[in-house]
Amino acid sequence: MQTIEIHGKKFITSIPRTSIENEVKRVAAEINRDYKGKRPLLLGVLNGAFMFVADLMRNLDIECEISFVKMSSYAGTTTTGAVKQLLGLNESIEGRDVIIVEDIVDTGLTMQSMLETLKGYNPASINIASLFLKPARLKVPIDVKYSAFTIPDRFIVGYGLDYDGLGRNLPDIYDAAE
Ligand code: IMP
Repeated sequence: MQTIEIHGKKFITSIPRTSIENEVKRVAAEINRDYKGKRPLLLGVLNGAFMFVADLMRNLDIECEISFVKMSSYAGTTTTGAVKQLLGLNESIEGRDVIIVEDIVDTGLTMQSMLETLKGYNPASINIASLFLKPARLKVPIDVKYSAFTIPDRFIVGYGLDYDGLGRNLPDIYDAAE
C-alpha cells in the first residue's frame, strides 16, 4: 500500500493498474459483442475520461470513431442546482450509435444533462460507459450500461481523475484517506 499527498491531502492506493486493465478489457469485450456490425461513435468526456477512452478504444476490434466533448462547469443556476452546457460537439450525431465515455458517474447530474442535450440531436442510440459508478451518491436515475467498477462513496484520484487539477497522471487509483 502506498500513501501519497496531493494539495496537502493524503491518498492511499486502492485499485492497481492491473485490475483497471482487466476491467477495461472486460468492458471493451461487452462493447465488441453488443456493437458487432455497427460503427459506434465514442464520445469521450474531457478531461477525466481521456485515459479510459484511449485504453477502451485500443481494445475495440469493431469499426468505431471517437470525438471529445466537455461539460461547462455551469451555465447558470436553477433551483435544482447548476445547469451544465455541452461544449465541443462539432459533428452531426444524427442516426449514430453513440457511446458516452465518462470517468465517473457520481450524482449523475452531468450525465443527465448530457443525455438530454444529445437526445435532441436524434442519434440512433445512446449508451454510457463509465469507468466508475458511485451508486450511493446518485441523485437521478441514470442507466450506466457499461461500468468497470462500482465503488463506495469515497473520493478517488488517478488514471485520469483529479483532485483540484492534480493526480490525473497516476497509473493506479487512490482513495482519499479519512
Ligand atoms: P456528477 O455530475 O456528480 O455525476 O459528477 C461527475 C463528475 O464529477 C465526474 O466527471 C468527475 O469529474 C467529478 N467527480 C465525481 N466524483 C469524483 C471523484 O471521486 N474523483 C474525481 N472526480 C470526481
